[in-house]
Amino acid sequence: MVTGAAGFIGGHVVAALEASGHHVVPLDLRSGGDVRDAALLDRLLAGADAVVHQAAKVGLGVNVADLPGYASVNVYGTAVLLAAMAARDVRRLVLASSMVVYGEGAYDCARHGRVRPGPRRADDLARGSFEPSCPRCGDDVRYAAIGEDAPVDPRNAYATTKLAQEHLAANWARETGGTAVALRYHNVYGPGMPRDTPYSGVAAIFRSALEAGRAPRVFEDGGQTRDFVHVRDVADANVAALAGGRTGCLTAYNVASGEPHTVGEMARELAAQRGGPEPVTTGEYRLGDVRHIVAAPHRAAAELGFRARTGFAEGMKEFAGAPLA
Ligand code: UD1
Repeated sequence: MVTGAAGFIGGHVVAALEASGHHVVPLDLRSGGDVRDAALLDRLLAGADAVVHQAAKVGLGVNVADLPGYASVNVYGTAVLLAAMAARDVRRLVLASSMVVYGEGAYDCARHGRVRPGPRRADDLARGSFEPSCPRCGDDVRYAAIGEDAPVDPRNAYATTKLAQEHLAANWARETGGTAVALRYHNVYGPGMPRDTPYSGVAAIFRSALEAGRAPRVFEDGGQTRDFVHVRDVADANVAALAGGRTGCLTAYNVASGEPHTVGEMARELAAQRGGPEPVTTGEYRLGDVRHIVAAPHRAAAELGFRARTGFAEGMKEFAGAPLA
C-alpha cells in the first residue's frame, strides 16, 4: 500500500514500484482515502506485505493555527496506520521523513571542531550577516555534510511531526518485530511538483515565478546551501528501501544527490534554462530558515544500494520545462 499515492512524490513512487513489478494499493485524500480512517486501512491492508507512507501535510506552515492540522494528519494519521499494520501483521514500513529533523546542519569550527550553532538571530540577519558562527567562540564555521546519527533538532511544526512519525515507527518496529526505514528526503524537485503555495519548497517557487515571467527572488545573499534531489531518484530510493535496510528496527537514511548547490545557483540554472528573467537577490530572510543543510549520502548507498542518478544540470534542465501540478 502506498499512502499519498496521488501526491507529487507519491505519484512517482507508485510509478517506480509498478515498473519494478510491485502491485500497488493506492490511498490518497484526493480520492477520498484518509490515512486516519482505521476501518478503511484495515480493508486495504488485507493481503498487503508493506506500506510506503508518503501521505502528509507538508511545507513550513503559515502560523500556529496550522498546528492541529500537522499533528492530526502526520502524527495521529501515522499512529492509526501503524496500529492497522500491526493488526494485519504487515511487517515492513517505508516512511517519508525529512532532512528538516536535523535543524541547522553540521558545522566545524577551527578551534572547537564539530559544533551545533543555535538559531540565527534576527538582528544578525537584518544586517546581512547570514552565516552561523561558533556557539562557543563566535568565530566563523564551515558547513559539513550531515550524517544520520547527527542529533535531531526539529524547529517547526512540520519537522516536529516528521520526527514524531520516526519515533512512532520505531516503537512499532520494536513491539512487532517489523522493519521501518525512514527516508530523510533533502530538497526534492522534478516534474509534477506543486506550484507556488505558502507550503511550497523553493524550487517550485522559482519555477512558478519564471513561468509567470517574473524573476526568482533569492533570499539572503543566495549563498545558502541545499542538496536538490530529483523526484525519480527519491522514488528509486523508496523501491530500494522495500528490499534493503536493517531488519527489526527503524533505520534512517539521507536521500540526497550528494552534490550540494546554493539556492542562488539553483535560481540561475533554472532561469538560464528557461531563457530568463534573471534572478534577483533580495537580502530578505525568514527567521525559521536554516543556512546550510547538506547530506552525507553514504549510508543509503551502503545499506540500500541507493545512489541518485540525476545530475544537477540535467535535472534542472528537465524541471525548467516540465509541467507543474
Ligand atoms: C524544504 C521544505 C521542507 C522539506 C525540505 C526537505 C518547504 C517550505 N520546505 O525545506 O518541508 O522537508 O525542503 O525536502 O517546503 N528561498 C528563497 N526564495 C524564496 C523561497 C525560499 O531564496 O522565494 C530560500 C530560503 O530562504 C531557504 C531556501 O530557499 O534558504 C530553501 O527554502 P525552502 O525550500 O522553503 O525550505 P527548506 O528549508 O529547504
